[in-house]
Amino acid sequence: MNIILLGPPGAGKGTQAARLVAERQMVQLSTGDMLRAAVKAGTPVGLQAKAVMEAGELVSDAIVSALIGERLDQADSAGGAIFDGYPRTEAQAHALDLLLSERARALDFVVELQVDEAALIERVVGRYTCAKCGEGYHDRFKLPMVAGVCDVCGSTEFKRRPDDNAETVRTRMAEYRAKTAPILPLYEARGLVRRVDGMADMDAVGAAISGILEA
Ligand code: AP5
Ligand code: MG
Repeated sequence: MNIILLGPPGAGKGTQAARLVAERQMVQLSTGDMLRAAVKAGTPVGLQAKAVMEAGELVSDAIVSALIGERLDQADSAGGAIFDGYPRTEAQAHALDLLLSERARALDFVVELQVDEAALIERVVGRYTCAKCGEGYHDRFKLPMVAGVCDVCGSTEFKRRPDDNAETVRTRMAEYRAKTAPILPLYEARGLVRRVDGMADMDAVGAAISGILEA
């Protein structure tokens, strides 16, 4: 099964992708995570992407589609892929169609997380992750069970994304509205879109997505 999770910054794409990975034989293909890894490693792609990401703008279509293509060729993606944060433009949507058809694969669903943008700023600005294992937390919505200690690996080091400030989030949302939301009709015409209330609590959103995949 191959699915796209679509929604603006803070909609819960990464949160729900991680749940699906834990429950099913699927991998999370997050272009945001791939780009952050490239920035950290200081690769040529990372050097090009760093300032663009910090400004909340979109990295070039060619770069992100190449990253996805490489990732689809790794054996672990054969059981199914969750596209998180990709595609984000019409050109990327066409590139994904080609990448999948070249590998005799197809999209099963496009799950749109429907959210209230005003509430998302708080979600994004309050987000942090374990610096060691990457487990996600939130200042208000998901605290570690023991303050300052990661539930999963016990680390006491946490980090925040440089683009998770209110000003950059507004640019990221504007990019979503201008360039990403317009790809939905392409998938609607193919009968692939399923809508989920992304403002429900995380478990309810997860249950709704599972219901779609099992239908
Ligand atoms: P990317 O990393 O994809 O960021 P994004 O799309 O802005 O989305 P986020 O990761 O911020 O949100 P999310 O939907 O994953 O939410 P999460 O689950 O963490 O991209 C970053 C940058 O990389 C882009 O700006 C661009 O520069 C570049 N880039 C990436 N892909 C690209 C592409 N294809 N083309 C071009 N450029 C690209 O949840 C957020 C918080 O809310 C968490 O703290 C979570 O705990 C909490 N939360 C989640 N669900 C709920 C809930 N139901 N109730 C309450 N709290 C919740
Ligand atoms: Mg994410």
